[in-house]
This record gives sequence, structure tokens and C-alpha cells, in this order.
Amino acid sequence: MALPTRVKIVEVSPRDGLQNEKEFVPTDIKVELIDRLAAAGFPNVEAASFVSPKWVPQMADGADVMARIQRRPGTIYSVLTPNMKGFEGALAARADEIVIFGAASEAFSQKNINCSIAESIARFEPVVQAAREAGIRVRGSISCALGCPYQGEVPIESVVDVAQRYLAMQVDEIDVADTIGVGTPRRVRDVMAAVTRVVDPARVSGHFHDTYGQALANILASLETGISIFHASVAGLGGCPYAKGATGNVATEDVLYMLRGLDIDTGVDFDAVVDIGQWMSANLNRKGSSRAGNAIAAKRAA
Ligand code: HMG
Ligand code: MG
Repeated sequence: MALPTRVKIVEVSPRDGLQNEKEFVPTDIKVELIDRLAAAGFPNVEAASFVSPKWVPQMADGADVMARIQRRPGTIYSVLTPNMKGFEGALAARADEIVIFGAASEAFSQKNINCSIAESIARFEPVVQAAREAGIRVRGSISCALGCPYQGEVPIESVVDVAQRYLAMQVDEIDVADTIGVGTPRRVRDVMAAVTRVVDPARVSGHFHDTYGQALANILASLETGISIFHASVAGLGGCPYAKGATGNVATEDVLYMLRGLDIDTGVDFDAVVDIGQWMSANLNRKGSSRAGNAIAAKRAA
């Protein structure tokens, strides 16, 4: 299949990138990160989570973050909402899109959101209905689509089953997520092929963590099955507090570098993203994990 000529990158670093940081990242820094990402041209920035602050303390300032960002016309600011309480927060914060997040693995569903897959779907239904009534876009994430830290292998039918449940709720976009970065290209192709048999590929995204160094290869495999939406995190920040050992999302700089080489347009200013990655890594007192970002920064300094 011919590769798409345009790809949408959802920048998830303000949420997935930061949620697992042990030290609280000041609200000002979160706001600046989001504003700089929007200014760099990302059409969609995942900005915050409206979850229990006891479960994810780093995301406790979501309402403040959303109140202080400078909204760019046309940018979609998304937030995670596990239940109606989260949705009420998202509505008050004027989120453009909410993300319901379920799993293809029962064990992970219990660990992450403290309920079974079926219970999570029942909880999401009123959330999605309320979002639709309020004219808010809805994204549905499927964690552990390529493997689970607790259960191991995850059958493709389980992924398709959650996708179908989301579809029945009329979510706008479905994220196939490799939470712990264990997937390899052939399996990714099989999962994406199965999901896109029931969901329009234009509404399916790939959310790849890079724990095993497979994320770019998995993105290429997804592009070859017609997927044209990918999630990425600047400097490769991130990890899920309920997926032990999982490292960050694929680094945005690396994805942009690869897509540029493939002549695929994203509308994003690559140089600005390299700057943001270096700035954010300095804020967190560590070197970011983007190979392309670090190589370009080193070349600039030479
Ligand atoms: P629970 O304890 O079963 O919930 O947690 P509950 O309804 O019994 O409520 C317990 C307490 O939480 C109550 O407070 C509620 O008010 C409060 P208390 O009376 O004890 O003071 N509460 C809330 N507070 C703020 N906002 C809310 C909210 N809901 C309840 N929305 C719950 C269930 C879902 C709330 C909890 O498990 C939770 O917050 N989980 C979030 C986990 C999370 O954020 N994980 C990381 C994001 S998912 C991810 O990273 C994967 C992804 O990147 C894709 C991939 O890579 O796979 C998306
Ligand atoms: Mg994730």
C-alpha cells in the first residue's frame, strides 16, 4: 500500500510524557510546554488528565494548566477522562477532546483504572454521550494492544472487541496503544489490519512506547497498513505509572525526522521541536532520549 502523504502527530508529552515524573513539574513549565508545542504546529496536544490525584499526583493541576494555556485557534487540546467526574472537569476546563482509556487486557484494566474491561465500557458510555451532547470530540484508547505487563500475550480479538465497543459508542478516533513497547512490526501490521477491518483507517492511530526500541519500525509498519495518525512525546518523555518498566513514548523528533525522509508532511516545525526537547530535558535535569534531537543539538553546538 502507498504510504500516506500527510500524517497527524498527536503530541502527548504534557500528559503521557509527564504523568510518571516523580518530582512535581511546576504548572508554569507544563503550560509553557503545551504553548510551545501548539506554536510548533501540532494539530493536537494531549494536555492533561482529569483522573484521581491519588492515583496520578503529577496530573493534579490539570484544571490550572487548562486555564492558563494560550489556546491557538485550530489546535485540539485533549484530556484524559476515566469517568463522569473526570468529564465534568474536562467540560469546565473547555477541553476540545476527551480521551477514554480502556485496555485489551483484563489485568491491566484492573491495575490502571480499578475495574474490569466490561465495567470500564459501562463507565465510558455516559461520558461519551455527555461529550457528544456538549460537542466535544472523543478519542478511545486501547492499552496493551501489543502485550500486557501482567498478562503477557494479548489476543488480537481482544483489541478488535474493544475497538468495536468504542465504535458502537461513536467515538471519533481509536488509539491502538503499545503501552509497554513490546510490539514488533509483523504483529503491529496484523493488529492494525484487524482493527482497520472494522474501523475506518482514517480514524485509527498508533500510540507506541519505545521500551524495546521498536517504535519507529512499528510506525512504518502502521503507515504501510494505511494508518496516518501517530502519538509521540518530545525527547521521548514518558511512561505509565501502572505499567512497570515501560519507558517513554516514541520521541517526536525521531518520528518527524523519519517522516521528513519519507516526504510525509506533518505541518510541524522540526527545528522548533528539537529546541523544545532540549529545553524540556534541561528542565527535568536529564538528557532526552531522542536520537535525532540529540544529534541535531550536538551538530548545532559543534
Ligand atoms: P477508584 O478508586 O476505583 O475510584 O479509582 P472511585 O470512584 O472509588 O473514587 C475514589 C476517589 O477518587 C474518590 O475520592 C473520588 O472522588 C476520586 P475520595 O472520596 O477518596 O477523596 N476520583 C477522582 N478524582 C478526580 N478526578 C476523577 C476522579 N474519579 C474518582 N476523575 C479511577 C478509579 C479511574 C478514578 C482511578 O483508577 C484513576 O484515576 N486512574 C487513572 C490512572 C491513570 O491516569 N493512568 C495513566 C493514564 S492511562 C495511560 O497512560 C495509557 C495511555 O497512554 C495509552 C497506553 O500507553 O496504553 C493512554
Ligand atoms: Mg501511553
